[in-house]
Amino acid sequence: MNGRAEIPETEEKRRLYADARLALAGLLAGETDRTARMAGFVAVLHGMMPHFDWTGFYRVSGGGLVIGPYQGSPGCGRIGWGRGVCGTAWATGETQVVPDVHAFPGHIACDCRSESEIVVPVKDSAGRVVAVFDVDSFRKGAFDTVDREELEILLADAFSD
Ligand code: SME
Repeated sequence: MNGRAEIPETEEKRRLYADARLALAGLLAGETDRTARMAGFVAVLHGMMPHFDWTGFYRVSGGGLVIGPYQGSPGCGRIGWGRGVCGTAWATGETQVVPDVHAFPGHIACDCRSESEIVVPVKDSAGRVVAVFDVDSFRKGAFDTVDREELEILLADAFSD
């Protein structure tokens, strides 16, 4: 099944992320609550990025990942350490760019329309992973190094407290 729109070309992606940065600066200014910041972050990115079909956070809580603010179809509630793409990003501390989710061993399918995915770990000032930011696309190969670079910077700016 197709996503909401075409995957933007590189230049267009950069422009969209620059616009998102401005929107986030306004929306998150002065907000210190992490969950509120996550909710705003998800709303801005999901609304502005045409290749984002499911957008959300999983928070590290009680030894697992627990779903946080998200937009899209109902997501899986809990994910274990090292499980799926999200658990792998948590365990390795590294962004996972998955062009074809069906080729990722152990991928957890919450929505059978998902074809590609990016998961970026969110770290606190001590470098501990406190959450992961997860985006699914209903198109294959939607995410690349541009998404990785831009999301890593946006997330570091928004959540490195
Ligand atoms: N696909 C993820 C699970 C979360 S959903 O994509 C919302 C994974 O394999 O960890």
